[in-house]
Amino acid sequence: MKRSLNAIRLVLAMSWVIDRKRLIIGAGLLLLGSLAQPGVAIFVRDLTNATIAHESALVLTAFASGLALCITGQLMLAHLGHLWYYELGELDEIELAKRMSRAIHNDQPLDEIESAEVADKIELLRRDIASARVTLEATIGLIAVAIQLIITCFLLVTVSPWLLLLLVAAAVPVLTTSASEKPVQDARKDAAAFTRRIRNLRDASTSADRVKEIRLGHGAARVRALHGEAQLELAATMAAGYRRYYGIRLLGQLPFALALLAAIAYTAWLTFNGHSNAGQLVMVLALTTQVGGQVANALQQLNNVGLSATGLERIEELRMSAADRDEQADAAVMGARLTTGLHLDGVSYRYPGNVESSLTDITLDIPAGTSVAVVGENGAGKSTLIKLIQGLYRPSDGRITVDGRPLESFRPDDWHRASAALFQDFVHFAFRARESIGVGDIDRLDDDDAIEAAIDRAKARPVTDRIGSLDTYLGRDFHDGEELSGGQWQTIGLARSLVKDSPLVLTLDEPGHSLDPESELRMIDAYETAARDFATRTGAITFYVTHRLSSVRSADLVLVLRDGQIDAVSTHDDLIAKGGYYAELFTMQALAYADHDAE
Ligand SMILES: Nc1ncnc2c1ncn2[C@@H]1O[C@H](COP(=O)(O)OP(=O)(O)OP(=O)(O)O)[C@@H](O)[C@H]1O
Ligand SMILES: [Mg+2]
Repeated sequence: MKRSLNAIRLVLAMSWVIDRKRLIIGAGLLLLGSLAQPGVAIFVRDLTNATIAHESALVLTAFASGLALCITGQLMLAHLGHLWYYELGELDEIELAKRMSRAIHNDQPLDEIESAEVADKIELLRRDIASARVTLEATIGLIAVAIQLIITCFLLVTVSPWLLLLLVAAAVPVLTTSASEKPVQDARKDAAAFTRRIRNLRDASTSADRVKEIRLGHGAARVRALHGEAQLELAATMAAGYRRYYGIRLLGQLPFALALLAAIAYTAWLTFNGHSNAGQLVMVLALTTQVGGQVANALQQLNNVGLSATGLERIEELRMSAADRDEQADAAVMGARLTTGLHLDGVSYRYPGNVESSLTDITLDIPAGTSVAVVGENGAGKSTLIKLIQGLYRPSDGRITVDGRPLESFRPDDWHRASAALFQDFVHFAFRARESIGVGDIDRLDDDDAIEAAIDRAKARPVTDRIGSLDTYLGRDFHDGEELSGGQWQTIGLARSLVKDSPLVLTLDEPGHSLDPESELRMIDAYETAARDFATRTGAITFYVTHRLSSVRSADLVLVLRDGQIDAVSTHDDLIAKGGYYAELFTMQALAYADHDAE
């Protein structure tokens, strides 16, 4: 109940801020319409008594007109009111979607968002937002029903105070409502994992990029079967929740149904014995039928508020935790250039839910202006290290300092603004070409010069020339746009990472893995030029993750990772001279290519 009241307060406050005129007119019309329902009972009473008393035609016409007015008012005003606040509900929904996005982006560490638990929560939130619109409607409806019930009470007392027991009985289902919601909420929570699995399997069997692999693996029937099983499990979980929900509701409504019967019988007895008149009997009959509807309506509205209250609470929780974090960051001022550089001191990192650490005790000094090549076999921890440096993950142990200040003392947003990256799993943004590049720095999205400069910096002209106009949509997922090859997408990704012209840190994680040799050489050239340029202008440190060891010679430092630890860190020449793990890898690769060339 407290949760529902909280939801009502939140939605009304939000609607008030968004569009109070709409709220006042919409709610006003609906509330006015709600007066019409008990009005019907009053006019039915008076019309009956006037008819029995053979009143004049004028009096009868007046009561009949009042009755007609109430009946039409009841229908019309509700519709008119609905027209006013319907759009407000949509606006509330948009606001909640914004809040959710803010909560997710507002410094929620990436590993938390990636965790299955939070993924489930976000899946629920997406649905909660869609149902939250109902809260506004339900809230106004609830107030309307409350007014109707108060007037109904008053009218019942005019016949006999005992009839108020009807209202007491009506409270039983109201009280059981919140108890009945719990099984459904629990079931929804339990079912979230199935929902995710279902989405994954549905994508596997229907989305174009997965169809090819599933088809070649003859996996379609198997995926369909798994999909069906997951659906059945979901249905069974939800059905169990709903069975308990309806069971509790049914039990709650039984005393009320009996009380209705008793109220009608009692009033009939009163009339039969001359303690009330025929008009009152007709009024009580009208009211009891209305009370049934009113209570059912109140229950429905309460239920709607209750269901969306949990969702609203989840959104608030997420928002609060993001706000907490926000306040923790005492905003150290980020300079326009790096002076001393980055220092990692005993940094370890373990992914949530993993037993083993992916990085252990990384201690490293990287002077400002250094270009670092990061190498190591698959799973060595290269991408994890990049995400720690980007501030997307927080070290489980140890700390990272920037120019001597702990990374977490800066506002995360400031550090993200100072960082540029091409991730290993970079996104194919299916936007216009200029936007797909421009989102690398949203402030420059409409800055043609900045986009052109990024294209030049990334040496991406061959790709953008082929696309033609920068206004062309990329990809076919959402628009009838220009589909790109894997390497072309990667080149666009590189341009995106180079939109910022003064980053303090640039990280490219395997930027060449989809490129043909010629494009790769062009990309390496682009990286080296950008790295030098950024180093001169801002003292930027650049990281370049690669398996192609021949491309790391020009780096100032080569960082060799092995099983989540630093194997060595030095210049390429020094590492070769020392003859360790890196020299072995390098020689092995050189030999492999030489053999290949010789064949
Ligand atoms: N999101 C994740 N959740 C849990 N564990 C992860 C996650 N991402 C990576 N790992 C684990 O962390 C370890 C390091 O992964 P990482 O992606 O950093 O390796 P990498 O050096 O970049 O490898 P690659 O050359 O294949 O890109 C791996 O053992 C991997 O299993
Ligand atoms: Mg990687």
